[in-house]
Amino acid sequence: MKNLFYLPMWYFKNVLLKKEKPLQTVLFITDYCNLRCKHCNETGHAGTTMKPYNKIKEELKYAYREGSRFVDFEGGEPTLWRDGKYRINDLIDLAKEIGFFSTTVTTNGQMPFDYLKADSIWVSVDGYKEYHDMVRGEGTFAKLHKNIANSHHPAVSINMAINKLNYKSVLDVIKYANASPYIKSVSLNFHTPYPGTEHMMLDWDKRCAIIDKIIAMKKEGYAIMNSVSGLRAMKKTPSSKYCWVSNFILTDGTRLRECAGKQAGICDQCGFCMSGEMASVMKLKPDTILAGMKLRM
Ligand SMILES: C[S@@+](CC[C@H](N)C(=O)[O-])C[C@H]1O[C@@H](n2cnc3c(N)ncnc32)[C@H](O)[C@@H]1O
Repeated sequence: MKNLFYLPMWYFKNVLLKKEKPLQTVLFITDYCNLRCKHCNETGHAGTTMKPYNKIKEELKYAYREGSRFVDFEGGEPTLWRDGKYRINDLIDLAKEIGFFSTTVTTNGQMPFDYLKADSIWVSVDGYKEYHDMVRGEGTFAKLHKNIANSHHPAVSINMAINKLNYKSVLDVIKYANASPYIKSVSLNFHTPYPGTEHMMLDWDKRCAIIDKIIAMKKEGYAIMNSVSGLRAMKKTPSSKYCWVSNFILTDGTRLRECAGKQAGICDQCGFCMSGEMASVMKLKPDTILAGMKLRM
């Protein structure tokens, strides 16, 4: 119940009074990864840092003090994270002890993740079968398919980044998610052209045409996390951005008020669905608010 009161209070302080403090935190805990995905930029492949437990504790406390109540553990591959006896579930417990309302882990699903205690799990599926393998490497779809089925977690969803290699597979990914009893919903994002990955970005016309098809499937009842208003917002270069709703703490400890895309100067080409969802939440679009509540509560 206290969580429900927190959200209108947060909105009042940060949106209406323009304090602009985060509600959610994307916390990068390692840059070690067991894949070399074609759309991921080099920093995700560095393999130099396992952030120490005590540093993560300090960062979680900082994010909580700032007002954040939702945390997503990211990487690299976050399930590879370790520090002595500590594993990722210790970070999830720690976030809950500090007071975060919910925790999320984004994983490539290449190893079993049935042990994860996060409230929700995002598995990256960048295409159906061979399309996914084209982006993430041969055999990777089969592995994640098996691990999703064996996870027995009630809140496993799919995250897809749509790019030049996999755009023909979007509708099949939506159908795959819908047909699986183990997958709750699918979140659809477009490739964001971080340095070195510009060639993977889809033309804007194709992006808009795909968004229309996604909206049609959403209206047919497919379990798509994006709201219709959020999807429509992704068709335009937004006049106002609300990316400060999520703060980012990078593997090297850099604390950003917004995503690294801002520093790279690529906000106008942003493909992350959260950008569209946030713009719609701020306009108090009911379907987006409902989608956000379903996602986080
Ligand atoms: C960087 S990965 C890290 C977590 C984990 N290793 C995984 O593969 O899910 C987090 C998510 O970001 C997405 N991603 C990576 N590069 C992207 C880009 N340039 N544009 C949009 N999404 C991207 C991935 O597809 C994945 O769903």
